[in-house]
Amino acid sequence: MVNIAVLGYGTVGSGVVEVINTNQAIVNKRAGKEINVKYVLDLRDFPGDPVEKILVHDYDVIVTDPTVDIIVEVMGGVDPAYKFVKRALLMGKSVCTSNKELVAKHGAELIAIAEENNINFLFEAAVGGGIPIIRPLNTSLTADDITEITGILNGTTNYILTEMAEKGSAFEDVLKVAQEKGYAERNPEADIEGYDACRKIAILTSLVVGEQVNYEDIHTEGITKITKEDFKYAKALKASIKLLGTSKKIGDKFYSMVAPVMIGKNHPLINVNGVFNGIFVHGNVLDDVMFYGRGAGKLPTASAVVSDVVDAAKHLKDNIMTIWSEEEATLGDFAEFKNKFFVRMKDKGLDDDQMMDIKNAFGNVLYVKAPDVKDELAFITEPICESEFAERIKTLEDVYSVIRVDF
Ligand code: HSE
Repeated sequence: MVNIAVLGYGTVGSGVVEVINTNQAIVNKRAGKEINVKYVLDLRDFPGDPVEKILVHDYDVIVTDPTVDIIVEVMGGVDPAYKFVKRALLMGKSVCTSNKELVAKHGAELIAIAEENNINFLFEAAVGGGIPIIRPLNTSLTADDITEITGILNGTTNYILTEMAEKGSAFEDVLKVAQEKGYAERNPEADIEGYDACRKIAILTSLVVGEQVNYEDIHTEGITKITKEDFKYAKALKASIKLLGTSKKIGDKFYSMVAPVMIGKNHPLINVNGVFNGIFVHGNVLDDVMFYGRGAGKLPTASAVVSDVVDAAKHLKDNIMTIWSEEEATLGDFAEFKNKFFVRMKDKGLDDDQMMDIKNAFGNVLYVKAPDVKDELAFITEPICESEFAERIKTLEDVYSVIRVDF
């Protein structure tokens, strides 16, 4: 028997207990051992819930119990999760976590401690919810020089953008529904400002590079400035607007960013809608590969956590190597990153004069029209580097929105 303890009985924690109970026979068979939930840790009480009997409020009870082999950390946040997880690993207990903040900030250190102690620190659920992406990067895509990893990595924002695109819904109303469905973070700012996606692309890029990519180094924009009008133009272009986390290798460096991007009908991520996430990877010998599934939600996320529990149970006292050293990776300078830009601005009715200003700023551009939108000019630039764009856009007045374009 393998005893596990679940830290945190929120959406994901209760999902983990549910998955283990629902699929008990299958999970035990795949682990080759019986998985027993010995403890659940939470500050709250849950009267009437079956976990009441195994609920503890004191972490010491769990971490000092020599019969506990695996700790599932699904509390979220860095404090106290980091202290709890580090202590567990130092006590020789494997840890499985869905906590992207923790993994993005301390992943390299915790992996190293697990390796020293011949146990495991696993985090499949930290990126892409139920989608297997960490294990494939670790064990399946090891023959390739990976030159791009681009994903829709946040279910909440993808749900919001999809509803805005399809139903013309208001941003705030859709956010509320996403929160009710358990997709959103406790603080939705992390979703809508792109911080959650930023941590996830930092984790994926760290695994690809094999070094620590600091999420603070990644240029990050959220979706709060995207409007109904932007979607009207996207529709006219048979395109859509998605919050992408991307890392592209140019020369010997990765250039990373999180930002809303207008993608065209041939983009591999165009049909990733609702709470679904999609992750596109390009390898120099494999070519393109896509991962797709539910990126958030109780049971999909719990499924990924329990898959880690099975792996940890199969590899008790046997470290599964993860290449992610504590050495800091140097990312390419974002100012040099090249993109096309979609720009919407006030139509001042000056025709040739205004078009001359635009030509002086950006050279030849592609003008775009959208039905029902009046008194505006919109255009798409040629590829231009970020710093140059930032300078030239200052020469134009009354700009309503700027969105990067990938088609
Ligand atoms: N808030 C996150 C999302 C949860 O919406 O994707 C899964 O990490």
